[in-house]
Amino acid sequence: MWSDLAPVGRSASSGGYFRQPFASAERELAAWFVEQAEARGLRLESDATGNVVAWWDAGAGAGVLTGSHLDSVLDGGAYDGPLGVVSALAAVDALRARGFAPQRPLGVSVFVEEEGSRFGLACLGSRLASGALTWSAAAGLRDRDGVALADVVEGGGPALLEGVGAFVELHVEQGRDLVDRDAPVGVASEIWPHGRYRFDFAGEANHAGTTRMADRRDPMLTYAMTALAANKQARLADQRATFGRLEVTPNGTNAVPSHVTAWLDARCSSEAALASLVDAVTRQAAERAGRDGTTLTVTPESVSGAVAFGLDLGLDVPVIPTAAGHDAGILAAAGIPTAMLFVRNPSGVSHSPAETAEPADCLAGVEALADVLERLAS
Ligand code: GLV
Ligand code: MN
Ligand code: MN
Ligand code: MN
Repeated sequence: MWSDLAPVGRSASSGGYFRQPFASAERELAAWFVEQAEARGLRLESDATGNVVAWWDAGAGAGVLTGSHLDSVLDGGAYDGPLGVVSALAAVDALRARGFAPQRPLGVSVFVEEEGSRFGLACLGSRLASGALTWSAAAGLRDRDGVALADVVEGGGPALLEGVGAFVELHVEQGRDLVDRDAPVGVASEIWPHGRYRFDFAGEANHAGTTRMADRRDPMLTYAMTALAANKQARLADQRATFGRLEVTPNGTNAVPSHVTAWLDARCSSEAALASLVDAVTRQAAERAGRDGTTLTVTPESVSGAVAFGLDLGLDVPVIPTAAGHDAGILAAAGIPTAMLFVRNPSGVSHSPAETAEPADCLAGVEALADVLERLAS
C-alpha cells in the first residue's frame, strides 16, 4: 500500500509533501482510500465535508474506530497522517488473517483538513464530524486565496461520529522520546493545550532609502522583537512558541512595510501556562509597538484545551505526552474514549521532509494496533 501513496503530492525539489485539503493530491489519496475500502468489502459512510468511515460491519453496539488524516502541512513529511490510515487498513487485514470475528463494528476513518494548512483551523474535519464545530461556523472560513470552505465542499448534515464507542489513532512520533527510550512503539498520555493567535502589526509604508531611521513606523521591527520575546519567554518557561507564517504588505525590498501579520503557534504543559505565555508575548509586543509607533491587534484563531487520553490499551510500551494536535484530541474532548499509538521516528523531525519511520517499526505499530482493536472489539 505504501508504494501507492509515496509519490502522491511529493515535491521533486524538496522531497516533501504538499497535500492540501480539497485539492488534487489529497483528493487522489481520498479516492485511493475508497478503492482500498471497497477492495476489502468495507461499507463506506461519509459526511458532506468529506470525512469518511469504512466500516467492517460485525456484531452489535457502538463501533470501534481507527484512522487518521491524509492531508499534509506545506512541505510536510510522508508519514504524518497517512501512516495512521495505512496502518488501520493493514490492521484490518491482520485481524482477518488471524480469523478474528469482531463483536462490534470496526471502522477505518479519514478526517479532512487535520493540519489546518488551508483554512487555518486544525482538525477541521474531526471537529465537524464530532459535532464540536457547526457547519455554519465553519462555512465562511477562507483560504489564502480568499476561497471559502463552503465554495469547495457542500458541508452540513448530521455529524458522522454519532454512535462511535472508541477511537484509536496511530501516528508517527513527531519528536525524540521513542528514540531516546529505544522503543519502536509508544502510547500517548496527553496532548498539551495549544493555540494559534493572529498578530496584526500596522505601521506606515515609506521609502527604504529616504526615510530616516528615527522617522519610521515599521511594523516589521515590532514583529521581529515580538518573535524574539516569544522565543525567550517559551525557553524560560520550558514551553513552545513559534512564528512560522508571516504576511508582509506590500512585501517590497525597498519599502518599509505598512502591515505585517504573523501567526503565533503556542503550546504549553497546562492551560494556565498557555494563557500566561500568550499574555506575556502580547504585553511585550504591545510595549514594543508603543515605542515603534505601530499598532497591534491580537486575535485567537483556535485554542484547544488539555486532553488526557482515558482509554487504557493494556500495552507494555512507553507512555509519553505530546505537544502535537491530533483528531484524537478532538474526539477525546467530545467524550469518546480515545487513545493514540506512536511509531518511532528516527529523525525526530516532523512537519518537514526529514520525517521518517523504519518499515520494521511500522509493522510493530500495525501489530500493536491490531492487538488493541482485537481487545476493544471482542
Ligand atoms: C498538527 O499536526 C499540529 O500539531 O500542528
Ligand atoms: Mn501534522
Ligand atoms: Mn497528523
Ligand atoms: Mn497533527
